[in-house]
Amino acid sequence: MPNPESSHPSDDYSFTEFSSLPFYRRVNSRLVDMSGVFNHHKIIDLGCGTGGITKLILERLTGTKETVIYAVDHSASALRAAVDELGGRKEAAIRFVHAEVQDLTASVNEQVDAVIYCNSIHYVNDKQKLLQQIRDRLKPGGILAFNTSFFEGSHPPESLDFYRRWMMRSLRTLRSDHGLFPDKNASKTDARRQLTPEEYEELLKEAGFEVVIKESVVAPVPEDGFHHISGFRDWIEGIMPGVPLGKGRDALQKSLKQVFKEMEIESVPRIWLGIMARRAD
Ligand SMILES: C[S@@+](CC[C@H](N)C(=O)[O-])C[C@H]1O[C@@H](n2cnc3c(N)ncnc32)[C@H](O)[C@@H]1O
Repeated sequence: MPNPESSHPSDDYSFTEFSSLPFYRRVNSRLVDMSGVFNHHKIIDLGCGTGGITKLILERLTGTKETVIYAVDHSASALRAAVDELGGRKEAAIRFVHAEVQDLTASVNEQVDAVIYCNSIHYVNDKQKLLQQIRDRLKPGGILAFNTSFFEGSHPPESLDFYRRWMMRSLRTLRSDHGLFPDKNASKTDARRQLTPEEYEELLKEAGFEVVIKESVVAPVPEDGFHHISGFRDWIEGIMPGVPLGKGRDALQKSLKQVFKEMEIESVPRIWLGIMARRAD
């Protein structure tokens, strides 16, 4: 397993730029606040990426001396960026854990007060097994707070025309500028099914959680949101499997600019599902 603290080149296709956009910080701050994080001493930031949510957690801590944050991700390059950004912070002990979220019971060896899991649960196919692992790592009464904008219902009907135009234009640009087509056989995301809010609630109950808050929040995503997400490895690979990252990014960003201009819009609404649940016993 690569050591996230070893010397490394920077990742040009990281999540860092997107994660510091004000609209995105607002959506996630809402979830972090919902978890009551300032009351907790042991916290897991699951799928922490380059550390944007870890920072939001740090900003809210009060009883800092005894606080431990486990920041878990399977991307070595994302974790290295998080270590660079947050390794020196003194507000809490941050333990960076390079692991699959599906292996949580093996990779974090104590029970915690809260698991905060932002914008990542949709990556995992076997959510039932994952939720059981999370439950096992929580103390009785502990909190799980997660959000996602990849669920059945995350795209309001009025946003569909934008995505249709953007995708068609991007594919055309990829062909005309680079002579390339996505390779559908190389897609890692085809098997992922997006769940409804009710299905998430059902899974949580089956795994031994009591749902305390379930909410859908509409966030207007500005052009720079789509611009920066078009430079994120997972997004490019999801839309344009098999295409070299730089060429995919360029086609997405060039077409985005044209479509925003053509539609005369300043943002596109997208819905974030946020759930706060408590371990039932
Ligand atoms: C979209 S980013 C979200 C980062 C951060 N939580 C946020 O909300 O800003 C998703 C992160 O989940 C991580 N991830 C996805 N599937 C994972 C898995 N099975 N195990 C561990 N990390 C995973 C990715 O590497 C990526 O860093």
